[in-house]
Amino acid sequence: HSMEAHRTDLMTITRFVLNEQSKHPESRGDFTILLNHIVLGCKFVCSAVNKAGLAKLIGLAGETNVQGEEQKKLDVLSNEVFVKALVSSGRTCLLVSEENEEAIFVKPSKRGRYIVVFDPLDGSSNIDCGVSIGTIFGIYLVKDKENPTLDDVLQSGNSMLAAGYCMYGSSCMLVLSTGNGVNGFTLDPSLGEFILTRPDIKIPKKGKIYSVNEGNAQHWDEAITKYVERCKFPTDGSSPKSLRYIGSMVADVHRTLLYGGIFLYPADKKSPNGKLRILYEVFPMSYLIERAGGQAFTGKQRALDLVPKNIHERSPVFLGSFDDVEEIKALYSAAE
Ligand code: AHG
Ligand code: MN
Ligand code: MN
Ligand code: MN
Repeated sequence: HSMEAHRTDLMTITRFVLNEQSKHPESRGDFTILLNHIVLGCKFVCSAVNKAGLAKLIGLAGETNVQGEEQKKLDVLSNEVFVKALVSSGRTCLLVSEENEEAIFVKPSKRGRYIVVFDPLDGSSNIDCGVSIGTIFGIYLVKDKENPTLDDVLQSGNSMLAAGYCMYGSSCMLVLSTGNGVNGFTLDPSLGEFILTRPDIKIPKKGKIYSVNEGNAQHWDEAITKYVERCKFPTDGSSPKSLRYIGSMVADVHRTLLYGGIFLYPADKKSPNGKLRILYEVFPMSYLIERAGGQAFTGKQRALDLVPKNIHERSPVFLGSFDDVEEIKALYSAAE
């Protein structure tokens, strides 16, 4: 009957995380407060993205970041919003952002136990044409709250406590894992709340889509060249895969998570370490994909086993459905 069309028991992201953390009562309040500040940042960016064309948020900010990329106005604005929200939460001690050359050490009076690594605005090249973009984040616990150091983040992705992303697409969706399952929440604009809409996301074991910037093909190594060739001309009697590439990691990984398949950002001769940054792109996405039952591989090892030596270090990454990544791993082993 008519009431069935309406959700009446609203599982907000706050309620969900409070339930999830009830096994760790000591950290429950702090983690929830931290997450609420990340959510606030996402809501702000979502609202800015929606009116970018109206609010003069399109175009360049006039600065270059440490990666040598030109910063867009929305890169700079989103970064400021996240840094301020995270510091004011009183729950962080160290922040690493794509847009800040140096890590930010929070002053003692505002310090908490969490470390957040983030890409405030992912997919910058898609801002000005209104294509999906996102925010990526990873959360760690500091060893000694009185003395946070860079070594607290320069460790393998296995020590990450939680990770997530928010996609500003046809709807605004936040996907989060605090170590167990992966859960998706959709922003209800009329409530201003993220509501659980995709509980316990599992990536299909094998997919029909591959996602890569094929314009770089002339610089690829043999394993990737062979893999992509097989996607188009399968040798095992299966149908060819479809190609989808948005150019926003968040949107490409989100589709991969829901539909299955593989996302690749390989190394090439120009960029021997690939393009994507380990701490705030490769690790959070690899963490989510693994928690959903998929795999993430660098060409040499499991992505989460990497140990970065500096905060903006890059790595190639191949992530997605378990069986599809398995095929790339086999090609790399054969090439050894
Ligand atoms: P960012 O906008 O945060 O700098 O990240 C851009 C990244 C990522 O979103 C995407 O997967 C990749 O750049 C696309 O790179 P190409 O344009 O080289 O394909
Ligand atoms: Mn960038
Ligand atoms: Mn990015
Ligand atoms: Mn970015």
